[in-house]
Amino acid sequence: MCMGYERRCVFFKMSGDSAQMFNPADKVAKISHCSSMEQYRKMHEKSLKDPEGFWSEIAKDFHFEENGLGQFLDYNFDVRKGKIYTKWMAGSKTNISYNCLDRHVLAGKGDQVAFHWEGNDPADAEIVTYSDLMKDVCRMSNVLKSKGVSKGDRVAIYMPMIKELVVAMLAVARIGAVHSIVFGGYSAGSLADRMLDAEASALITTDAVWRGSKLIPLKEIADDALKICRAKNTNIKVNIVVKHISRVTAPQSAANGAANGNPAKKTHFDDTGNFKVGWDDKVDVWWHDVVKDVSSECPPVWMDAEDPLFMLYTSGSTGKPKGVLHTVGGYMLYAATTFKYSFDYHPGDIYFCTADIGWITGHTYVTYGPLLNNATSVLFEGVPTYPHSGRFWEIIEKYKVSKFYTAPTAIRTLMKYGDEPVKKYDLSSLAVLGSVGEPINPEAWLWYYRVVGDSNVSIVDTFWQTETGGHVITPLPGATPAKPGSACFPFFGVDVALLDEEGREIKGEGEGYLVFRQPWPGIMRTVYGNHERFETTYFKKFPGFYCTGDGAKRDKDGYIWVTGRIDDMLNVSGHLLSTAQVESSMVEHEHVAEAAVVARPHNVKGECLHCFVTLTQGADFTDKLVSELKVKVRSTIGPFATPDYIQLAPGLPKTRSGKIMRRVLRKIAAGERDFGDISTLADPSVVEVLFEHRPNDK
Ligand code: PRX
Repeated sequence: MCMGYERRCVFFKMSGDSAQMFNPADKVAKISHCSSMEQYRKMHEKSLKDPEGFWSEIAKDFHFEENGLGQFLDYNFDVRKGKIYTKWMAGSKTNISYNCLDRHVLAGKGDQVAFHWEGNDPADAEIVTYSDLMKDVCRMSNVLKSKGVSKGDRVAIYMPMIKELVVAMLAVARIGAVHSIVFGGYSAGSLADRMLDAEASALITTDAVWRGSKLIPLKEIADDALKICRAKNTNIKVNIVVKHISRVTAPQSAANGAANGNPAKKTHFDDTGNFKVGWDDKVDVWWHDVVKDVSSECPPVWMDAEDPLFMLYTSGSTGKPKGVLHTVGGYMLYAATTFKYSFDYHPGDIYFCTADIGWITGHTYVTYGPLLNNATSVLFEGVPTYPHSGRFWEIIEKYKVSKFYTAPTAIRTLMKYGDEPVKKYDLSSLAVLGSVGEPINPEAWLWYYRVVGDSNVSIVDTFWQTETGGHVITPLPGATPAKPGSACFPFFGVDVALLDEEGREIKGEGEGYLVFRQPWPGIMRTVYGNHERFETTYFKKFPGFYCTGDGAKRDKDGYIWVTGRIDDMLNVSGHLLSTAQVESSMVEHEHVAEAAVVARPHNVKGECLHCFVTLTQGADFTDKLVSELKVKVRSTIGPFATPDYIQLAPGLPKTRSGKIMRRVLRKIAAGERDFGDISTLADPSVVEVLFEHRPNDK
């Protein structure tokens, strides 16, 4: 059985250490919401046997304007029985913005800090309380209403990590519209594709942002995207623009202008230092202008628990991104509950998640999970290594962060600088450290634990997906003895199974497809505008199960080890990309006849892109072509998708029926020669030729 995860096992070869168990830190276990495996097992069992009893108890903590009289949970997970659907609390009425804000303000918590905003530059910081946030949200809700946005309309958001991003999403949710956030690192083309697919009627963006010392002219990119939309006869009603760049500290290199290697200052700012933006009076309005004269009160629109809350695009193996749709009620319960238990959140904690809100981690664990729990968080605009490699640790010390959540790729990046930048800061406030986005290698896990956590923390390696809405496999920090590299056990409501290629269940120790047997409240409900694709992608391969697309193994103690994607998906620095998406961008180049893209192990990013390109007749493989192809991918998808390696492929390893054997390409990319059986290749000699052209590790 080829599950495509042989390459992962190399990375994951279990060291003596990784089989070691690490008990929850005493300081966490002592006060934990769930402080023993026995308690976890009882709660988990109840959540599977009696989902209604389990989740209706949790729902009591939230405000429902009306309780539905129908079934609490209704679903079909089996394509053989008809349409796939999941409904939690259908008929009940609520609003997530009300639950994130009003509920706490009405309980007298308005003065509590919701966010410590920390800028890209350490000189920039701001405090946002729950009542500030509520007023700002109401103002923006009123603006959106005045611009004709109403319940069910899609609003695209293309913004950096600033307070207004949180305000925008909650304002959209407050009036029952649907937000579709596009990560600020995506290109104009990617933004346009998503806006067109979502049929967005409004856009909220920002003039520009500094990311480290790089200037990202978001409005300019958004303007290009709007041009693309217009060419397809799709117009938005309004583009609300936050004026941001002039209120923050510019990096030193920019302040000195082009002389210091940062041309941004010259090209994007006028002589008086003002940032230049294009302006279209028909749609563009400044955020600060439109919020000036509107009321800071706005009653929420009461939504059915099963009404859409947001959509978020994730890569699909066909290359066309899927608009993953989440609904109000189930997502709310799941975001709140996973936040509370996985990070063992208590009042007084200071929580810091480094993810960008443009990804699902930011949706659930920067905005919704923390706010639903009335938490105080750090909202960070910058990057881990600017202006120095101790930036995260500096922030942790400054705010006395107790719960910290980041990605293995960031941990590996920071590990490279050694222990010294960590040890400079007092990190004794830390109690729980989280990891997300890809399997964490035991070496990074142990560094995180020993150096960052001073061996006195609980580590939670949280496995989940855009589609799952929240953590689905994770240790609980007060209960679960952790094994480095294992996401451990299913969260409440999640019923894990491993299946073999034929769909037979693997019980006990073993390895197979990771699937879930029944719905948890946070599961996606559909792919926007394409329910059939939803059913095909997640439910057709193994009727009766939600298929994650990942492989996993279960060890003798029942621990789950997620081994990575088993489809044509790549995970670069924790971001999913489809091979097809990158290939289709490359073949648009006039000199490329065919392209095949695979993952190559990378010691910081986890995986990086290795591209094989076959050229058109007469074309030469030159450095110029390689850089043109990189630019092409950057401009069609975004900078984070830039390939690390591009090599010439005079021929590709194809079966006689013309199918590219990707497992052979993956081996070549990794520099390995144990190809297994290649007798079905139409021309086995191409393998050696490809090896000859293989670029060495950088
Ligand atoms: O392959 C798994 C990997 O990331 C995929 C989901 O990507 P995305 O929808 O972009 O969401 C990322 C953030 C939740 C999964 O199918 N993945 C995520 N977390 C882990 C992981 N793989 C192993 N261990 C994890 N903790």
